[in-house]
Amino acid sequence: SYSTELAGKTILVTAGPTKEKIDPVRYFTNRSSGKMGFAIAEEAVKLGANVILVSGVEGLNVPHGVKHIQITSAGDMYEAVMSHYNEADVVIKSAAVADYKPKQVFEQKMKKKDGNLVFELERTKDILKELGQKKDKPFLVGFAAETENVDENAWGKLERKNADIIVANDVSKQGAGFGGDTNIVTIYKKDRTKKELPLLSKNETAQEILREISRELKRGEE
Ligand code: PMT
Repeated sequence: SYSTELAGKTILVTAGPTKEKIDPVRYFTNRSSGKMGFAIAEEAVKLGANVILVSGVEGLNVPHGVKHIQITSAGDMYEAVMSHYNEADVVIKSAAVADYKPKQVFEQKMKKKDGNLVFELERTKDILKELGQKKDKPFLVGFAAETENVDENAWGKLERKNADIIVANDVSKQGAGFGGDTNIVTIYKKDRTKKELPLLSKNETAQEILREISRELKRGEE
């Protein structure tokens, strides 16, 4: 059944925002609260999975039984995921990872100057994409936060990142995405089927995602 399939499996979950340092007092970040990823970690533990949670979230309680690895930047998350993915049967990337970071990090607090300030940003490494290229790739679940063309972008991400599942949220919808306690997601699978879920709590959404993963793992074993 659904509950036995994930028991004893190791699931690595990433959650929340990353923070990209500008100087000792400033950083670039995004609106992710970490609630979606923490809900997945909590529900996975309830199913008997061993859960490793990589996040930079402050102010949320780490669910009981979860091994938490605290990170700050996209680079830190990359290091943590790369050194633990081979322990995991499943990796779920619900974190909102920065795509860019400041090219130059200032040692001292930046001083105001006249005129505009221009930042040069450079790309961070795409963790999901790199995992998708590993020979010993775990079952890979990516997220997609979109504001338009959700279907097209989700199918594209599934393919480009070689993921097994993409969970897309249309973050322009009321009740979906960043910050709140609810989400509205569609689950896209490799066999080109998709499952649209209604507005649910993030914990209920997590249960549905885990159920879908469990089904796919079971299918893979048959
Ligand atoms: O944290 P909450 O407030 O509860 O909000 C939940 C959420 C909206 C953040 C979550 O549901 C969600 O959609 N997370 C993914 C957000 C995101 O960054 O999506 P993306 O479309 O930019 O990235 C696609 C995928 O690639 C994601 O799985 C992301 O983790 C991964 N990625 C992105 C960039 C990068 N450098 N490395 C990555 O692995």
